[in-house]
Amino acid sequence: MSYPESMLASIKKVEETRKKRLEERIPLLSPEEKDKLLHGFHPDYNPKGKRPVRVGPNQGDQMPNELVDLLEAYPRIDPDRFDLSSFDYDVDVLVIGGGGAGAAAALLAQENGANVLLVTKLRLGDANTMMAQGGIQAADKPHDSPVIHYLDVVGGGHYYNVPELVRALVMDAPKVIRWHEELGVMYDKEPDGTMITIHGGGTSKKRMHAARDYTGAEIMRTLRDEVRNRKIPYLEFSPVVELLLDDQKRCGGAIIYNLDTKEYFKIRAKAVIIATGGFGRLHIQGFPTTNHYGATADGLVLAYRVGCKLLYMDAVQYHPTGVAYPEQIVGLLITEKVRGLGAQLVNREGNQFIYPLETRDVVASGIIRECTERNLGVETPTGMKGVWLDSPMIEIINGPGTIQRMLPAMYRQFHNFGIDMAKLPILTYPTLHYQNGGIVINEWGETTVPGLFVAGEASGGVHGRNRLMGNSLLDVNVFGRRAGMRAAEYAKKNKVGKLSLDHVKRYSEELKAAGIERKRVAPMLLPDYRRPEVLRKLEGTYGLGIE
Ligand code: FUM
Repeated sequence: MSYPESMLASIKKVEETRKKRLEERIPLLSPEEKDKLLHGFHPDYNPKGKRPVRVGPNQGDQMPNELVDLLEAYPRIDPDRFDLSSFDYDVDVLVIGGGGAGAAAALLAQENGANVLLVTKLRLGDANTMMAQGGIQAADKPHDSPVIHYLDVVGGGHYYNVPELVRALVMDAPKVIRWHEELGVMYDKEPDGTMITIHGGGTSKKRMHAARDYTGAEIMRTLRDEVRNRKIPYLEFSPVVELLLDDQKRCGGAIIYNLDTKEYFKIRAKAVIIATGGFGRLHIQGFPTTNHYGATADGLVLAYRVGCKLLYMDAVQYHPTGVAYPEQIVGLLITEKVRGLGAQLVNREGNQFIYPLETRDVVASGIIRECTERNLGVETPTGMKGVWLDSPMIEIINGPGTIQRMLPAMYRQFHNFGIDMAKLPILTYPTLHYQNGGIVINEWGETTVPGLFVAGEASGGVHGRNRLMGNSLLDVNVFGRRAGMRAAEYAKKNKVGKLSLDHVKRYSEELKAAGIERKRVAPMLLPDYRRPEVLRKLEGTYGLGIE
């Protein structure tokens, strides 16, 4: 399979305009133009996509409907059925989540003297970190500095970023790269050993470090090996369904659910770190997603029920370049590195319509405008619209073989469907990629609930309202390490009091008082792809809670 007949005429136009486009420089948009584009076409500005949440610490704040549904859902467990006078596990630090943030947190907590247990919903390493492609930012070369990195981050975040968090992010970045190198991450290098660094959208200096186009897999492989080598205990297929609070309102453990055996286990821990990732699998506003199967906002629900506030939950990142064709891989990521290496975005007529390395929200909005208002998108046989990412430009600019050398995973992804992206353009449309906001933390990952820490995509504030490429792999490492260190220190100084699930009962009372019916339970744990008519039939037959 390559492209169907109906798409070939447009491909011809793309080929015809290449020579002209080689010389063409699309200007960056002015702040006013960006604002107009975002307000007109970014899904965050669609008033139908969000509503105010009726309960909890953010009562009255607008959030995506799909998240509000979960925050307004009832607990999965009946608190009265749990005897909390004894525990199945008793540890210093409990880490929830087996991705990059969880692994980094577990390693640093152990290094700092804590007895650690990591629990994860699927397998260790099954996470968005593993799927990250393009790279990790760090200002560690003479042409750059953490100060410039800082300015890029806050510019990209539309100045909503929390300054102390950004400071921690950019200042720790060079240290993270050195740590990775010591552990064995194999970053791309020149023959003389110099790190190769390239641009990402919104970066003013070349500071993206990468391992080809599978940077996340390379980092996750290394961190996962390290967790195993250091014999840190971990439980797989064991999501947390509720946190525990003690009589002084400190977090002191969790209830986990074994997905295989359907048993519950009780864990007491002096400190708890949430590293559960974001909400990409909620398919906000019906968008496809780049995200891992487990990204169902569980950490947000858990933290919200113990009283943590959420920040910027209405700011959702749609990656500009998700796959729009072939159908089997719609929504999967086409790394920004493809544009970083010279691929241009062009419409059905073969014309560029936006500078390809504007920040993600701006590029995504430009693509949506091209396919809607301007009606210059390319239609696929199933009726999806997209624009071309003219990947052969990479070979024209950098020489033949560049794509297979620098983007081997991407090349294979399309080659499997008979599309040679070194010769033919690839079709793209925005896809749900990242939760810009999250649980409020300070620069050590501490929340407002003593004993509860958060690291990675579950937290909010560092990226403001729009994250730049390569700052997510950085975030999980910086704040995973920081939360791990601080949680280990906290565990040395604190004991756990009498634990209960009273906060869960109170939350249910609040839901009832707000007149919210018991239609759903949360955390979601796994996305439900059954058709609505199947769900309706099952619900009518068996009632709520069917699985
Ligand atoms: O485009 C990308 O490779 C994505 C990277 C990121 O989200 O940081």
